[in-house]
Amino acid sequence: MLLGLLFICVAICDASQNFSIPNVVASFSSTPKPFKINVDPQFIEDTRRRVKATRAPVSIGEEDDGPSLANFTAIRDYWVNEYNWKKTQDSINQRLKQFTTVVEITDKNTTIPVPLHFVHHTSPRDDAIPLLFLHGFPGSFLEVINIIDSLTSPPNASLPAFHVVAPSLPGFGFSPAPQHAGVGPVKSAQAFNALMQKLGYPQYVMQGGDFGGMILRYQANMFPKNVITAHSNFWVMMPSEYDIQNLIVGATSEEETAFITTCEAFVNNDNGFRMIQQSKPIQAAYALTDSPMGNCLWLYTLMQLIIDPRDFTWSLDEIITWSLMYYIQGPYGGMRMYKEMLNDGAFIGVDFADLPIVSQPVAISQFPYDALGYGLPLEWARRGGNVVKRYVHDHGGHFAAYEVPDLLLPDIWSWFGDKNTSGTSFFD
Ligand SMILES: *[C@@H]1O[C@H](CO)[C@@H](O)[C@H](O)[C@H]1NC(C)=O
Ligand SMILES: *[C@@H]1O[C@H](CO)[C@@H](O)[C@H](O)[C@H]1NC(C)=O
Ligand SMILES: *[C@@H]1O[C@H](CO)[C@@H](O)[C@H](O)[C@H]1NC(C)=O
Ligand SMILES: *[C@@H]1O[C@H](CO)[C@@H](O)[C@H](O)[C@H]1NC(C)=O
Ligand SMILES: *[C@@H]1O[C@H](CO)[C@@H](O)[C@H](O)[C@H]1NC(C)=O
Repeated sequence: MLLGLLFICVAICDASQNFSIPNVVASFSSTPKPFKINVDPQFIEDTRRRVKATRAPVSIGEEDDGPSLANFTAIRDYWVNEYNWKKTQDSINQRLKQFTTVVEITDKNTTIPVPLHFVHHTSPRDDAIPLLFLHGFPGSFLEVINIIDSLTSPPNASLPAFHVVAPSLPGFGFSPAPQHAGVGPVKSAQAFNALMQKLGYPQYVMQGGDFGGMILRYQANMFPKNVITAHSNFWVMMPSEYDIQNLIVGATSEEETAFITTCEAFVNNDNGFRMIQQSKPIQAAYALTDSPMGNCLWLYTLMQLIIDPRDFTWSLDEIITWSLMYYIQGPYGGMRMYKEMLNDGAFIGVDFADLPIVSQPVAISQFPYDALGYGLPLEWARRGGNVVKRYVHDHGGHFAAYEVPDLLLPDIWSWFGDKNTSGTSFFD
C-alpha cells in the first residue's frame, strides 16, 4: 500500500518537478517559453582560470596520436587571452530564436517529463513544410546556424521552404541531462515527436547527421503517420558477414571494397572515444567535467578528423564555443548518449547494429570526410529502409550543415522539393 503510494508519487511528483541546468539561467514548463542563453559569468571566469592552469602532456609529437601540442597551446592561449563568451552568447541569441519546454512521453504506464531546449524559426512562406533538424556528437544545436535562414527563406519560390525546429538532444547544449538512465534514441524520438505535436506540426519531415541521422530512423519507424519523409547525411550500415566473405574472396565491387576499408580504418584507429562513452562514460567524464581544456581537446580530436580541410578549418572561437556546449552543463549527460544508443540496439560492440527499418521514402547525402557514412553503396543503404535517392559529393565532411551548407542545401531542396517521390505533396 505504502509502496503503491510511493509509485504514484514518483509518477506525479516527477511531472511537476522543476528542471534546471547547472550554471545557466533557465526554466522549463509545459508551455514553450522564449529562452536566451545566459551563463553565470562567475562560471565562465572559473572556466578561464582552469584553462590557464591546465597541465599539458609531454607530447612526443606523433601525429596519429591526436591534436599536437601546438594545437593545445593555440587553444589555451586564445581562451585565456582573447575568447569572449559574452560576445558569443549575444551573437547566438541574436541569430537563433530559442525556447524551452517540457514534453511528456510515456514508458509503460509511467509519464516521463523530458525538458528540452530548441530553436524554432517559422518561414514567411505559407506553403512551408515543418522540418525537424537533429544534431549529433560532438556537435550541438549550433549545427543548424548556417542553413536555417536559407531553409525558412530560400532564394526563390521554386525551392521548398521550411518551418525549422532544431532541439538540443537530452544532455546536450541547454537540454538538461536526463536524471535517470534510459533516455536514448527511442525516448528522444518520442520526445521530439511530442515536441512537434506541441508546436502544432502533426506531420513533418526530418533532417539529421550523426546521432540525428540515427534518431531519425527510430522516429520515422515509430511514428509513420507523423514523419512523412527524411533526409540523412549519416545513413550508416555496417557490411554484413556475407559482404566480408565476399571481400575475402575478391567478390566485392570497387565501391564496396572502398567502403569496407574506410569503415574498418575508422573503427580501428579513430573510435576509441566511442568505446569509452558507450561502456564507462563516467570514467572519462570525471576528468572532462573538471578540465575545460581536457573536454575541449577530447572533442577537437574528433572534430579535426571528420571535416574536409579543403573546405573548412575550425576557428579557435568555434572550437571553444562548441566544447562549451558540453562543458557548461557538464559533458557526462551527452557523452553517455552512446551508452543509451547501445542499450537501444543501435550498436553492437564496435559495429552499428540493425537500426529500425524506415518505410517512408528517404534520401541520403554522403561527404568524403564522413568516414562511416561516405561511400555506402545504395543497395546496402536500402537494407535499412526505403532509400530512394543518394547524393554523393566529392567535398565535405561530417558536419555538412555547418561545414558545407552550400552543398547540403541543394540536396535538401531537391529531395523535399520532389513532392511525388519524397511524399511532401502531403503538405499541399
Ligand atoms: C518549482 O519552482 C516554483 C517557482 O520557483 C516553486 O513555486 C515550486 O514550488 C517549485 N516546485 C517544485 C516541485 O519544486
Ligand atoms: C592543429 O594542427 C593542425 C596540424 O598542424 C592544423 O592543421 C590545425 O589548424 C591546428 N588547429 C589549431 C586549432 O591550432
Ligand atoms: C498498465 O495499466 C494497466 C491498467 O491499469 C494494467 O492492466 C497494466 O498491467 C499496467 N502495465 C504495466 C506495465 O504496469
Ligand atoms: C532558384 O534558386 C536555385 C538555387 O539558387 C537555382 O538553381 C534555380 O535556378 C532558381 N530558380 C529560379 C526560377 O530562379
Ligand atoms: C505527381 O503526381 C501527380 C498526381 O499523381 C501527377 O499529376 C503529376 O504529374 C506528378 N508530377 C511529377 C513531376 O511527376
